[in-house]
Amino acid sequence: MSDTLDCRICGGTLHEFFDFGRQPLADAFVDPNHPAQEYFHRLAVAQCGSCTMVQLLEDVPREHMFRTDYPYLSSGSSAMQDHFRATAGHFLDHELRDLDSFVVEFGSNDGIMLDTVARAGRRHLGVEPCAGVAEAAAAKGIRVRNAFFEESTAAEIVATEGRANVIYAANTFSHISYVDSVFRGVDILLDEDGIFVFEDPYMGDIVERTSFDQIYDEHFYFFTVRSVQNMAAFYGFELVDVEHLPVHGGEIRYTLARSGSRTPSPEVARFLDREKILGLAERPTLESFATNIDLLREGLRSLLVRCRDEGRSVVGYGATAKSATLTNYCGIGPELVSFIADNTPAKQGTLSPGSHIPVRSPEAFADPYPDYALLFAWNHAEEIMRKEAEFKRRGGRWILYVPELHIV
Ligand code: SAH
Ligand code: TYD
Ligand code: ZN
Repeated sequence: MSDTLDCRICGGTLHEFFDFGRQPLADAFVDPNHPAQEYFHRLAVAQCGSCTMVQLLEDVPREHMFRTDYPYLSSGSSAMQDHFRATAGHFLDHELRDLDSFVVEFGSNDGIMLDTVARAGRRHLGVEPCAGVAEAAAAKGIRVRNAFFEESTAAEIVATEGRANVIYAANTFSHISYVDSVFRGVDILLDEDGIFVFEDPYMGDIVERTSFDQIYDEHFYFFTVRSVQNMAAFYGFELVDVEHLPVHGGEIRYTLARSGSRTPSPEVARFLDREKILGLAERPTLESFATNIDLLREGLRSLLVRCRDEGRSVVGYGATAKSATLTNYCGIGPELVSFIADNTPAKQGTLSPGSHIPVRSPEAFADPYPDYALLFAWNHAEEIMRKEAEFKRRGGRWILYVPELHIV
């Protein structure tokens, strides 16, 4: 494990603003029959005094996080399936209009986005280090390379397949601490007038909504428009477009091109102004975010303790990676939340990382319905509440904690 006090991008000085202490790996669900020693690391966040990038102070070796049995399946949400179908459709209508065009996606997971591209018959390649999810994509007829995307992978791809018109990554680029190698790879692989597009949780939304559970081992960087613009310039690229997305509790899709090759959209300047007004890079903003984290922790814990003391049953819904930080930082275990219902086959029958709450199938949720359901997958609230409408009809109540603690 490397410990660094310098910004991973520009070498500037990092200023820590929150320390969650020792935390487990957020996707390392525990097999109750073969409990192995869990890997803990120090989870603390800081901001660079120069380029303003928010980042973890410590990174976990990638082989610990992204293993063969990585359990997260992108296709587990129908809303996300719609989102990625629309994303692919947009590329097919624009950058991939030419029948010979080529798209590379890193972090392609089970092929949720490339599926549409493959069906349209366009040249494509997924780059995905976790063999299990990579095989799930390959089984759908999607071309995948089982590897980490970095400079050497990009060089191998360009040697056999030529340059790409689009390089795309969703919920992946912010997971990668070694951006220097990724940018060198993008430089080698991207066509002269190609675009590098990525979308990740937006620090502006995290601060505004106190969604601190977005902070865990896999989320190494927390992007803002300003910090991405600085990062791009540092590596010879330019931020030419931004789009605010409603998925995963608020994300931004960033479009980068080689410096000077495209005219930036007015949206870039608009977001920069907005971030300035919000004071997103200012110390007091991060200090009040830190205060809000602890207020939320106290509020949620006392609500759950009260439920327990009054004899009301509480079940969690969605064994998200996010819930690892939430349960472990707030001290929520099986005594407060008896189990977590989740539709991911590889998570069922396991215990949540660190907090050891049993994970069961969604069928267990109705057998019988609890009094309260704590919605860990709050970013999928609409989809899950629709699916589980019967729970409310029978008098059940949802506990949500984003954008603030409330019961519906
Ligand atoms: N794009 C999908 C998956 C996000 S999960 C979605 O948005 O739903 C993050 C994925 O990135 C995981 O499948 C993980 O294995 C992969 N990943 C992590 N580091 C990577 C790297 N260096 N290159 C390619 N994929 C990587
Ligand atoms: P998600 O919030 O997408 O990501 P992360 O793990 O990065 O925080 O995870 C959603 C989890 O919720 C995932 O384990 C699947 C589960 N889920 C259900 O059980 N039912 C559903 O209807 C949906 C949409 C998700
Ligand atoms: Zn920096």
